[in-house]
Amino acid sequence: MLTAPVLELDDVAVHLGGKRRWFRPSIPSVKAVGGVSLAVQAGEILGIVGESGCGKTTLGRAILGLQRETRGTIRLDGKVVSGQAPREARRLRRAVQYVHQDPGAALDPWWSVGHTLEEGLVITDGAKRAERRPRVEAALAAVGLEPSAGRRYPHEFSGGQLRRIGLARILILDPRIVILDEPTSGLDMSVQATVLNLLLEIRARRDLTYLFISHDLSVVRRLCDRVAVMYLGRIVEIAPATRTFGRPLHPYTRALLAAAPRLEPGGLKPVPIRGEPPSAARIPQGCLFAGRCPYVEPACIAEEQVLAPAEDGHEVACRRWREIEDGAPPTRDLAA
Ligand SMILES: Nc1ncnc2c1ncn2[C@@H]1O[C@H](COP(=O)(O)OP(=O)(O)O)[C@@H](O)[C@H]1O
Ligand SMILES: [Mg+2]
Repeated sequence: MLTAPVLELDDVAVHLGGKRRWFRPSIPSVKAVGGVSLAVQAGEILGIVGESGCGKTTLGRAILGLQRETRGTIRLDGKVVSGQAPREARRLRRAVQYVHQDPGAALDPWWSVGHTLEEGLVITDGAKRAERRPRVEAALAAVGLEPSAGRRYPHEFSGGQLRRIGLARILILDPRIVILDEPTSGLDMSVQATVLNLLLEIRARRDLTYLFISHDLSVVRRLCDRVAVMYLGRIVEIAPATRTFGRPLHPYTRALLAAAPRLEPGGLKPVPIRGEPPSAARIPQGCLFAGRCPYVEPACIAEEQVLAPAEDGHEVACRRWREIEDGAPPTRDLAA
């Protein structure tokens, strides 16, 4: 692509917790994100998928500037915005906003919706009173709510309407990149569909870039241009969505798709994986997925597997992807 990326991550890692203690064993930190490199184009919808605990939210919070990165560089429009103290980090990254998975829980029950929206304006750009009201109404209109919604309180709204309010709350701040963290989880299918359509409509109208975090692969398939698959804090495969779903290469991606209830992976023989990912406090040597991979070989454990181009725009962190695609038999029976 010819355009410069709007967001670039270069080997971003986030280690959480951990403590060094005198005369006692230290508490290891959790390597929630372990070195992610990524370039996101303006206007793109990038899906980030992976099992619960693989580091999706932590990655989002690091991009947002809420969670300080342990190492690595983050660039917005080519400008380095990482390596700052939290307050400065958030200031530099105002163009990035985050929609909480449960916007209802993030709203103050005692405040009218209009009050909450206005407060956001005051905090982030000190907007004057006279200009706030029209901006609140415009944000409500953008998500399909009447101006009167501003006078009502959170408990008066349905789940779907609360998602709209959650969106209005960030749209009023005029973001360029929106991180949507499981934006449709817990919604009925029909409401889910209207929320997704609204997201698409808003993106087209406002020229937004979305990072779409979800474990619902059918939704990711419908919405995303590209998909990054995370495992244990790393991206193990990234590709255009049509490729991720049509020709997944990493054994982990294949297993994820095979396990997804509402997908029929075309011609893929489902390869079940068992067990759970190891703890992010004890990252294994070599390939992160080796412990659960049906195709593991000693060499997979000996060397770290990093993302490498498989075909144009498609990268995978598996040394055996070609053999597996050509029908290499499993090296062990995980059903045993
Ligand atoms: N504040 C924290 N302190 C220590 N570990 C954490 C903290 N928050 C999350 N983790 C751990 O970091 C890893 C990634 O979590 P998270 O980013 O929430 O994953 P996801 O959003 O993909 O479910 C998990 O192992 C989780 O237990
Ligand atoms: Mg999460």
